[in-house]
Amino acid sequence: MTPPLPSSPRGVRIAGTGHYLPSNVISNKDLERWMDTSDEWIVQRTGIRERRRIDRDKGETTTSISVAALSRALDNAGLKPTDLDMLIVATVSMEMTCPSTSCRVAEAIGAGACGAVDLSAACCGFVYATNFAHELVKGGAYRTVGVVGVDVLTPLMDYCTEGRGTAILFGDAAGAAVYTATSDPSKGILAQAMHSDGHGWKHLYIPREPRDFPEDADPNRRKLGLMYMNGREVYKFAVTKFQDLIAQTLDKAGLRAEDIDQFVCHQSNARILEAARERFGIPHEKFYTNIERVGNTSAGSVPVCLDELRRSGRIHDGQKILLVAFGGGLTWASSLWQL
Ligand code: UT7
Repeated sequence: MTPPLPSSPRGVRIAGTGHYLPSNVISNKDLERWMDTSDEWIVQRTGIRERRRIDRDKGETTTSISVAALSRALDNAGLKPTDLDMLIVATVSMEMTCPSTSCRVAEAIGAGACGAVDLSAACCGFVYATNFAHELVKGGAYRTVGVVGVDVLTPLMDYCTEGRGTAILFGDAAGAAVYTATSDPSKGILAQAMHSDGHGWKHLYIPREPRDFPEDADPNRRKLGLMYMNGREVYKFAVTKFQDLIAQTLDKAGLRAEDIDQFVCHQSNARILEAARERFGIPHEKFYTNIERVGNTSAGSVPVCLDELRRSGRIHDGQKILLVAFGGGLTWASSLWQL
């Protein structure tokens, strides 16, 4: 554990980021062999050409890919695992209900007795966890907090024609960030938002028991442990909420879209992203996308983008960046940073 900083004022900085993508690739051509779909349909409706899948034979699991991403983030920050005071792992694909994935990641990485807790907010998980981590550091109780956004959803996909509306979208990935205190109080979150609407739960769910299915679920498609998504409903929700959320967060911070140096958005569907980019008149170079290569990686999506942007030099100190996500729950969340 790192020594405490002198009492406030203190800011929060992103000390390091990292990500891990499994090496197995599922291309649209692979999907064509498994279900009635086409590369053309998938590219046109989603912008996705390929996504990654864990390799169980190589020992890849939610825990192992989280450890890989976090270890890269710590290296990038120049910190040791024992410097972490708290670890938050955001995921909906934990291997077991108990223990938490975070406890296992903390143990595997050698983080000693740091606090460890999982957070479940589907595709918004990393953004929620980032907002919590920021407040823990800003408030002075913790100095260094690690956040992992990870999902391994390919085992939850129904790779057949009945499941094609969901199976084409999702891939596996882990991303991580390490947040730490700085004596510069201007650094940290300028505005943030976290919301939910449980009325929409049945548009995206993973049933464990027969009673978990909504009454109107197709009686012929009731396999437990798979992900079910009403793509059309989630699309309608996403296309409006995503844009409202950007407007609300900018408004809270008293900023305009052109004041933001980089938008780091959940990669849900290229059409949803493009609608938001056009509405706010954001140039392509400030609106990163990697969905073509990795698909929708749920909680892994925002931190993988963040790390790719930092490592390529497109995100750096002094900039303002806006993290935005939405997903199952339904949930939506944002985090606007002064770096
Ligand atoms: O990250 C969590 C949040 N999730 C999202 O943001 C996902 C939001 N939703 C979506 O991205 C889109 O709804 C999808 C990509 C999932 C689906 O695209 P869509 O344009 O909404 O398609 P649809 O579900 O309205 O289906 C249109 C047609 C249907 O055929 P009919 O009924 O018109 O004959 C589907 O059966 O396309 C058919 N279809 C497909 N055809 C070929 C659905 N999936 C496929 C497929 N290949 N993979």
